[in-house]
Amino acid sequence: MPILRSEPLITELEIKVRLGQMVLDLARDLRGKELTVVGILRGSFMFTADLVRQLYINDIHPLIDFIFVTSYDGTESTGEMRLLKDMSLDVRGRYVLIVDDILDTGRTLQFAKDYISQRGAAQINTCVLLDKPSRRIADVQADFVGFTIDDVFVVGYGLDFNGRYRDLPYLGVLKEE
Ligand code: XMP
Repeated sequence: MPILRSEPLITELEIKVRLGQMVLDLARDLRGKELTVVGILRGSFMFTADLVRQLYINDIHPLIDFIFVTSYDGTESTGEMRLLKDMSLDVRGRYVLIVDDILDTGRTLQFAKDYISQRGAAQINTCVLLDKPSRRIADVQADFVGFTIDDVFVVGYGLDFNGRYRDLPYLGVLKEE
């Protein structure tokens, strides 16, 4: 059973500062557009909430929706994508910003992009808190990235291991006992 390393990988303050910087980049791209933010559950719930509060500070007031996509079992991606909850809003003709916690193999983001494109979005951009480029399988990149990290299993700030640790306000790393 892996245990949590005591020192954070990325602290609460580092996340906050980085989000402020990211939103300045996003705001330049978003101005004047009819924005719908679509968070990918469950991992992005905290990141999405903090991101839209930063958008608010920049006078950007998007519609907000979520989809629930999963492919994970413990720390392993099964490769098979499942849509467990659809969007509630109509994204036809809208500028959609997909928000995810981590870009790992890329299957989830690729699936979400394809799905939202099929639903008629006019433009789709993607924003992830963490990017693990070394693990990529699908040919996909995020337009906005918070932190690029090595191949370690990260928990906290919405990310979990078997449902635990989502509540941590910082990002931590699991290590084998
Ligand atoms: P893919 O492989 O589809 O992964 O790019 C995206 C989803 O996989 C989960 N994931 C992780 N969850 N720590 C986690 O808690 C990790 O290090 C990790 N890597 C991938 C996550 O749900 C993400 O949305």
